[in-house]
Amino acid sequence: MKKAVIFGITGQDGSFLAEFLLAKNYEVHGVIRRSSTDYRERIAHIEGHPDFHLHFGDMSDSLGIMQVIAKTRPDEIYNLAAQSHVQVSFDSPEYTANVDATGVLRVLEAVRTCGLEKTCRIYQASTSELYGRVEAVPQNEETPFHPYSPYAVAKLYGFWIIREYRDAYNMYCCNGILFNHESERRGETFVTRKITLAAARIKQGKQEKLYLGNLSSLRDWGYAKDYVECMWLMLQQERPDDYVIATGEQHSVREFCLAAFREAGIELEFRGEGIHEQGIDKATGKVLVEVSPDFYRPTDVVNLLGDPSKAKRQLGWNPAKTSFEELVRLMVQADMAKVAVERAGEKVRINLEEYLEKGIVK
Ligand code: NAP
Ligand code: GDD
Repeated sequence: MKKAVIFGITGQDGSFLAEFLLAKNYEVHGVIRRSSTDYRERIAHIEGHPDFHLHFGDMSDSLGIMQVIAKTRPDEIYNLAAQSHVQVSFDSPEYTANVDATGVLRVLEAVRTCGLEKTCRIYQASTSELYGRVEAVPQNEETPFHPYSPYAVAKLYGFWIIREYRDAYNMYCCNGILFNHESERRGETFVTRKITLAAARIKQGKQEKLYLGNLSSLRDWGYAKDYVECMWLMLQQERPDDYVIATGEQHSVREFCLAAFREAGIELEFRGEGIHEQGIDKATGKVLVEVSPDFYRPTDVVNLLGDPSKAKRQLGWNPAKTSFEELVRLMVQADMAKVAVERAGEKVRINLEEYLEKGIVK
């Protein structure tokens, strides 16, 4: 039985990867942070599985990372832990560097200190944000990097320190240069999930309007569940290497919005330009989407399109498994159900309060 450690187990990708590895009969060790609130929603359904174990640790704490690796002595490590929100990295640049850059070094050094450098394979969650202020479209493994946010600059260090340890110590380390991947488990402040949740809430009368930033930004959006398979495939090759993982298809934030609202049963049309652009409900004439400068970034990455040919050729990975339309559909359907459940819960609460007031129930 192979043993894997996942840093970032509570995140979108960590939860899908844990399910994937458990299905492959791995013993999976996840690293979590202590929090005063419940943040384990994405992995609650696998807690208690006999091959699934959790350890406390933080990417800013070398000793904790070392202890987890010494205790578990894994065959594979997946470093998915990061302050992963680009806009937040402008507010917390030092923290982002500590976790997303130096954190990678801490994992590498812990592996060496534990004497596992010959046996343990490491996956690093690198990112299409490295292309930043893009120098070519589409982007592949040869395209120069031009990071364009504190997040991307930190991730650039992570990318190169992985390459350095591969060359200097002959370690099996890989960078997955993953383009945006989304799902029903995506964090609610990333643009796709923000849109699908808002579309569901607006449709069900729980929200009036959606405020967004740059509607013209272009992304190559895939389905997270398909992407975690690649992380594993990268660690099963004869030699370590770096791979671009993307769909090869590009859409704007505006297009995502149109598709998501349509899936929720609302036909939108966009009118106006820049800060004055609005998304209007064709049926009622109501303004449902507006632009707010609060969601503009000091520097924004606006043209990401990946070329996944190498992953297709060498890993045998299929980038067309889930289409853009399917991705939007599954996210909107999940959020429509989530909002409906919340509304039902609210109704029960209101009824209960009324019954208590009237003395019908005690
Ligand atoms: P996510 O949902 O934000 O999850 C991030 C994970 O990192 C969470 O488990 C989080 O724990 C953990 N984490 C954050 N700071 C930590 C710290 N100081 N110590 C330990 N754990 C910490 O991100 P994701 O979308 O799954 O992405 C996974 C990785 O891929 C990230 O490194 C991200 O930068 C990278 N990436 C993502 C995409 C994408 O489109 N999703 C594309 C390219 C690269 P808490 O739950 O406790 O916060
Ligand atoms: N979050 C957000 N909120 N983004 C918005 C909004 C908004 O209201 N309005 C427009 N956008 C634009 C952003 O300016 C950006 O150009 C694009 O939508 C995508 O933003 P996010 O969904 O926040 O994702 P990201 O591309 O910045 O970062 C994600 O993908 C990277 C891979 O390229 C994250 O998952 C990163 O961790 C990951 O590395």
